[in-house]
Amino acid sequence: MKKLTLTFLVFMLLFLGVSCSDNSDDTNQNSDSPTLVEFNKPKGFPNVVIPEDNPQTVEGIKLGRMLYYDRILDKDSSRACASCHLQNLSFSSPGAGRDVMAHVNMAWQSQWLWDGKVEGTLEEVMIFEAKDFFEANLDRLRNHPTYPDLFEDAFGTDKITYQACANALAQFTRTMVSFNSKYDKFLSGQAQFSESEERGYDLFYSEKGDCFHCHGNALLTDRVFHNTGVDPALIDIGLGAVTGKVEDFGKFKTPTLRNIEMSAPYMHDGRFQTLEEVLDFYNAGGGFGTNVDPLMRPLGLDEQDKSDLIAFLKTFTDSTFLTNPKFANPFEE
Ligand code: HEC
Ligand code: HEC
Repeated sequence: MKKLTLTFLVFMLLFLGVSCSDNSDDTNQNSDSPTLVEFNKPKGFPNVVIPEDNPQTVEGIKLGRMLYYDRILDKDSSRACASCHLQNLSFSSPGAGRDVMAHVNMAWQSQWLWDGKVEGTLEEVMIFEAKDFFEANLDRLRNHPTYPDLFEDAFGTDKITYQACANALAQFTRTMVSFNSKYDKFLSGQAQFSESEERGYDLFYSEKGDCFHCHGNALLTDRVFHNTGVDPALIDIGLGAVTGKVEDFGKFKTPTLRNIEMSAPYMHDGRFQTLEEVLDFYNAGGGFGTNVDPLMRPLGLDEQDKSDLIAFLKTFTDSTFLTNPKFANPFEE
């Protein structure tokens, strides 16, 4: 209880810190060095390593948030990150091709994309996003009336590089932490589960349901790659395309189940529209094919078990995350 109150206080202080500096921005431009912001790891979460050369700062997070929502980063200005990564859908959205991955608790990740094509820090994947995916035309930022000052505020130099863009994006997305779902409150004794949720919880963490082997712990992902046999045709070979190893064919990154209720459709190819379909898939023993993970086997869940599991999965929904004004579009404030 006490620790939670403390966490809350720290967050309030952070929040005040952000608003104060926002207010002083106009009068204070370029005069101060960036204001450090502490990264507060929620209780029970693994440790986070933040690169020493890119500490979290009020100014860096603010700039990253603007870049995330601004189409200026895109080569032809047709999209912003937030065009596909929508806050109310846990920063995902339905789309064709590879399913749009949610942006939640990315501070704890180090292998990126469904197939692990990019490895490293959040900064490193953001370089990939800004440079290779968006092919950002940096001159547009350099010639912009306000961005050069914002980069100066954030990094002490108005030199606009892919690295600086990536650093800002990494700082902002590192703040997207979800730790306030009913599941978290249940774990800390602040909420009670319904009977159905409780049964779902037991199934999830039992050998019968067997979800916990890959989706256990606070992050609800083991952060590695498995072949669950989603696509027996192997249209997309996933990790295999990156490593070239036959045993990696069909393996994809285990996605977090945080806010899973909001991030339909499901799986790397978005083939399932509902959680019911996902559970039918697991209940039948996953998919076919070589290399399918030995954990995949028929589960023998009845209708009641399935609806209990779904009730439990919905306790991962964190409305404070989905509506947090600090993650919202800064241009609509
Ligand atoms: C056109 C839609 C679209 C836009 C715009 C978009 N993304 Fe994505 N994002 C995706 C898809 C689809 C994936 C999964 C791709 C894959 O695995 O190959 C993804 C995955 C990611 C991941 C990997 C997450 C993880 O857990 O591995 C990151 C990081 C990311 N996007 C950041 C960004 C950033 C930053 C921007 C803006 C610079 C952006 N995205 C713009 C569709 C989009
Ligand atoms: C062997 C590891 C493993 C086990 C066991 C497992 N999962 Fe998964 N889960 C994965 C992987 C890997 C994916 C992504 C597969 C893909 O897209 O090809 C996934 C995807 C999902 C998705 C879709 C997520 C998204 O964002 O699209 C849901 C929901 C899900 N699992 C729930 C469960 C539940 C509930 C159980 C228990 C009944 C379970 N999983 C058991 C590894 C596992």
